[in-house]
Amino acid sequence: MADSGFVKVAQVNELKPGEMMAVTLEDDQVLLTNIDGEFHAIDDVCSHAYACLSDGDLNGKEVECPLHGGSFNAITGVPMNPPASETLRIFQVQIEGDDIFIAPPNS
Ligand code: FES
Repeated sequence: MADSGFVKVAQVNELKPGEMMAVTLEDDQVLLTNIDGEFHAIDDVCSHAYACLSDGDLNGKEVECPLHGGSFNAITGVPMNPPASETLRIFQVQIEGDDIFIAPPNS
């Protein structure tokens, strides 16, 4: 059983390595990625202006924003290319069987 606070957002077989998808956790839009078989979750909304990173491109660990081309590390949320400059939040991820659960960032 997933820990409390975790919400099922997808199934493992919905997201292959190198793919990403947008999910929601309460009021938060979250970018869920499969990077080399590991699942990660960061804010989906770019910290530069309003754009969804899930509409951009995922290249390895780097997700590129579709609006101005800024990019972030999809595991750490750290900006890799301007104009992105503010780090995105990392959501907690748990896998249980075929299910992917996420929870709010550890504060
Ligand atoms: S909105 Fe993402 S780089 Fe500008």
